[in-house]
Parts: sequence; structure tokens; C-alpha cells
Amino acid sequence: MSRRVAVVTGGTRGIGRAILERLAVDHDCVVHGRRDAAAADEVAQIVGRKGAESLVALVDLADPDGVDEFADAVLDRFGRVDTLVANAASTAFKPLADLAGRHSRLTFATVVDSLVEMVHRFAPAMGAGGRILTIGGLDARFAQSGHGLLGGAKAALEALTRSWAVELGPRGVTANTIVPGPVLTDSLETYLAGREDVRALLVDHTPVGRLCTPGDIADVAAFLVSPAGAMISGQVITVDGGISAQGGPWGAMRDLW
Ligand SMILES: NC(=O)c1ccc[n+]([C@@H]2O[C@H](COP(=O)([O-])OP(=O)(O)OC[C@H]3O[C@@H](n4cnc5c(N)ncnc54)[C@H](OP(=O)(O)O)[C@@H]3O)[C@@H](O)[C@H]2O)c1
Repeated sequence: MSRRVAVVTGGTRGIGRAILERLAVDHDCVVHGRRDAAAADEVAQIVGRKGAESLVALVDLADPDGVDEFADAVLDRFGRVDTLVANAASTAFKPLADLAGRHSRLTFATVVDSLVEMVHRFAPAMGAGGRILTIGGLDARFAQSGHGLLGGAKAALEALTRSWAVELGPRGVTANTIVPGPVLTDSLETYLAGREDVRALLVDHTPVGRLCTPGDIADVAAFLVSPAGAMISGQVITVDGGISAQGGPWGAMRDLW
């Protein structure tokens, strides 16, 4: 089988990087990030060792012109996209009362508008077997301190993904959202530094007894984009070790975090 082409946004670290490392066995890779050229080059080398050709692109997804140029660059280089993983996200982690419209516009431009544009550009370049995977968050389902804005954007992302499943399904393209629980990325480790009380609370509320790793999320992503995932579409797949099964610790964490 010929190699497929994967675009993974925010692939320079954390979950996005782990997904690229998994997909590289049978995908050529677009390694996207915002500003860390050294990290992007390192990921390109890693996927290269697995046989993947790669395109490195540093683009701020909040910039509509940048997203447009990004799509041009991907299509110029590969001519098609088989797998789009919308993983990148950034926001202001503050109470909603402290945030203004400009914060909302930035978050939604990064998480939602860029995704609508990428699907608009890449879906016509997808054949049967095409895959759209969006990375959501439990903040779309549960109010978490400082996550109001991101939760709103992630709720929009879930709804959009369901519609793409319906609209693109007849062409053999699936669309799903993975919702990770807390994942031990560098970003989360930075948050948890010196906060063993918060770490313990998260672990205590996770039935399997540990927090997710980026590899846990990447394993599920790799399954969904494989031929085995052909009949899973329009779904929200939660990968959280069960932390949401009883509602999670978010209420108890309100005054801790
Ligand atoms: N980690 C968790 O516990 C967790 C839990 C639930 C959901 N998630 C979701 O999973 C996804 C990945 O999380 P993560 O923790 O792995 O992320 P991360 O370590 O914070 O990495 C984010 C990636 O996205 C890129 N990025 C951020 N804003 C961007 C922008 N405006 N334009 C272009 N690229 C941008 C970053 O590039 P730069 O480094 O260059 O900025 C980086 O490559 C996110 O959607 C997050 O909401 C994470």
C-alpha cells in the first residue's frame, strides 16, 4: 500500500508529536507548530527514521492568511491529504469574567476557524479512507477553573466534527473527536510542578490509577485513522482512564487550581 499523507497541527510536542511518531509508519507527515523550529526539525528527523517524508511548517493558526498559506504549502508538496489531526490549541486560562472579546476571538480563531478553513481546503483532497480527527477536551463537558473559553471552543469543535462525519461520510471520509483526560505532557507537568496535592487528586479520581501519557492518546488516534476505524464516525471517544466516569475531580479542584 502506498504511504498516506498526515497533517497534524501542533506536532512539535506533547500529544501531537506522539501522534506523528505513530502515524509515520505508514504516513508522510506535515510537522506543524507555531514557533519552535528546533523541535519541529527534531520531529521531522524522528518520523524520517520511520520512512516518512516530511514538510515542516511553522504557522500561527490564529492568522487566517497563515492558515491559507499553510494549506497551499501542504497541497503543493503532497497534492493530497489522507489524515488531518486538528490537535493544536492555545487560550488564556483565566476565569471568563476576566476575559474580553479579543481573548475569545483569538481562541476561536486558533481552535475553530483554522479548522473550518483546513477542512474546507483539505477535504476535497481526501479520497475514500480519509480521516478527520479533532482533539477535544473534558472542559467541553465539565466546567473547570480557567477553562471556560477553551471549553467553549472545544464544544464547537465536537459539534463541527459530527457534521463533517455526516457531510463527508458518503465519500468514505470519517470524522471523530478524541477527548483526552489529563495527559502528562510538558505543559501539564509545568502546571503540576510543586502541586503534588493536585496531582494526587487527579490520580485518585482516575479508576485505572494513573494519568494518561501522550502515547495513550496516540495509540487510539492511530487506530481511528487505520482501516480498522472505517466504521467509527461522528463519535466522541474519551481516553481518560475513567476520570470522567463519576464526573471527575473538577468541583473539588475549584479552590486548588
Ligand atoms: N495535555 C492535556 O492534559 C490535555 C488534556 C485534554 C486535551 N488536551 C488537548 O490536546 C491538544 C494537545 O495538547 P498538548 O498538551 O499536547 O499541547 P501542548 O504541549 O501545549 O502543545 C501544543 C501544540 O500546539 C501548538 N500551538 C499552540 N497554539 C498554536 C497556534 N496559535 N498556532 C499554531 N500552533 C499552535 C504548539 O506550538 P508552539 O509550541 O510553537 O506554541 C504545540 O506544538 C490540545 O488541543 C489540548 O487542548 C490536552
